[in-house]
Amino acid sequence: MVEIITIDGPASVGKSTLAKRISKYYKSPLLNSGRLYRAIALQIKDKKININDRKNIIKAAKLLTADDLNSKKLFSHEIDSIASKISVRKYLRDVLGIYQKKFPEKYASGKKFAIIEGRDIGTEIFPNAKYKIFLWADAKIRAKRRYEQIIKKGEKAQLKQIYSKIIARDYMDLNRIIAPLKPAANSVLLDTSYLDIEQAFGVIKNLLKR
Ligand code: DC
Repeated sequence: MVEIITIDGPASVGKSTLAKRISKYYKSPLLNSGRLYRAIALQIKDKKININDRKNIIKAAKLLTADDLNSKKLFSHEIDSIASKISVRKYLRDVLGIYQKKFPEKYASGKKFAIIEGRDIGTEIFPNAKYKIFLWADAKIRAKRRYEQIIKKGEKAQLKQIYSKIIARDYMDLNRIIAPLKPAANSVLLDTSYLDIEQAFGVIKNLLKR
């Protein structure tokens, strides 16, 4: 039977890098649930859907396909901002929750694990998952990592601005009423402030062996 691994944590903590590493190593499928919110944000932008148009947002969410999750346009400041605003709507979370809950049976049959990363995966989406990981890292360190990623790509960035954006996103994720970011009961807390990706992956490998 496929076992579910949930990975939750704040923005820029390295969830997707770590989740990708696990997915590759165990040849198991991965869902980055943030991409679902981003894909809807992109449609709101491109199709000029009003951000309060509940009917068309639900329609877009119901029609979402795996291909929509691979667009390069999902990552920009504008999409960050729209995704963050719409992710507090319960009606949207409910529809996208169905997509997430169906992911293991649809994409992981015959595989060892199904990996799903986000904010509320261990608390709301898969409360009975066998492995729940909650990642954390100091906000200053997260900002520095993000800054270095952008510079490495040859783009311009300001560390101070990235830091204040991270703090603002943390505030929204941690304090929203619906599905706030918090460690799930019986999750493993992993602070990666002073760990690199291979060290963090080593900890996870030991956890998955148990
Ligand atoms: O992880 P990310 O930065 O790609 O997420 C994009 C947005 O979606 C972010 O504002 C948080 C939100 N999100 C959420 O509310 N619940 C999830 N399970 C995943 C992401």
